[in-house]
Amino acid sequence: MKSYSLIAPGKINLYLEIIGDHVSASSADRADGFHELVMILQSIELADVIDLKSNDTQEITLHCNHSQVPVDGTNLAYRAAKLMCETFADTYANYGGVDITIAKNLPVAAGLAGGSADAAAVLVGMNLMWNLGLTQPELQDLAAKLGSDVPFCISGGTAIATGRGEKLDLITNLDNLWVILAKYKSISVSTPWAYQTYRKNYRNSYVSDVEGIISRSDRVRSGDLMNAIVKQEGRKIGELLYNDLEKVVLPEYPKVAELRNLFADAGVLGTMISGSGPTVFALCDNEAQAEDVANTVRNTIADSDLELWVTKLGSSGIQVA
Ligand code: C5P
Repeated sequence: MKSYSLIAPGKINLYLEIIGDHVSASSADRADGFHELVMILQSIELADVIDLKSNDTQEITLHCNHSQVPVDGTNLAYRAAKLMCETFADTYANYGGVDITIAKNLPVAAGLAGGSADAAAVLVGMNLMWNLGLTQPELQDLAAKLGSDVPFCISGGTAIATGRGEKLDLITNLDNLWVILAKYKSISVSTPWAYQTYRKNYRNSYVSDVEGIISRSDRVRSGDLMNAIVKQEGRKIGELLYNDLEKVVLPEYPKVAELRNLFADAGVLGTMISGSGPTVFALCDNEAQAEDVANTVRNTIADSDLELWVTKLGSSGIQVA
């Protein structure tokens, strides 16, 4: 019986610009509810650990040490296993089902792609366990069926993501900076809510022609933030962080906005929400500065609902442990 243990790192968004409604090749009216984005995605070292084990049944089972994580068919890691079983039905019949155990270290429902990373680990692990020999692009095609962030979680590192977030170009690894993550346990932001609210408020600025979309993403590719990443200029990167979703999330969640202001005042390189939040991240030059600022914020807010993590930017996606 084979088993694999996989490391599934989370991500932050150094840049997230909403260009318009998603241009879907498969949907006649092009309205699939998603958005056309240009993002710069960055892995972090904080990671979940996923254990996979073949079982002799035709069942998928899921266990997780975190009470907020669903262990039924709604869990993205479960859906990843189901997708593999459906796509490779003969192999599934041959090898049987799979037991998935998730050791959750990443904050849940946080904008850090925790669920996507777990799903990515299941795809990578089952590919190995079943000797399928799928290449990384083939795995990423499957991953895109599960969610916009899942393809990035497979390859990790630093990447420009376009389309729904699933079209990736890897760029110079940025792994020399440290990051503080801060999240209120009791606050969660619905990603569909954040995007729908953005659409309601900013639809008049949406670009809908293909040339316009390409030129917006080209502007980021050759822009100042990319240049700062290539030159590994932490201070500049911090100044140029950007996320359109802050326009809808911060006014709705004043405690998140307050947290962000506190980080800004603490002299970090830069601070921003990740994805649709509610995690606020703050970039720092080194571990000592990150620990120092995290302690200051912990002491200033003094609320047991607030959780903080210090981690490093990472250069890898899913790895076999
Ligand atoms: O793909 P994922 O499951 O992560 O998306 C969650 C939700 O975020 C989608 O249902 C959609 O409302 C929104 N979204 C979007 N455009 C994207 C990615 C996500 O509108 N490119």
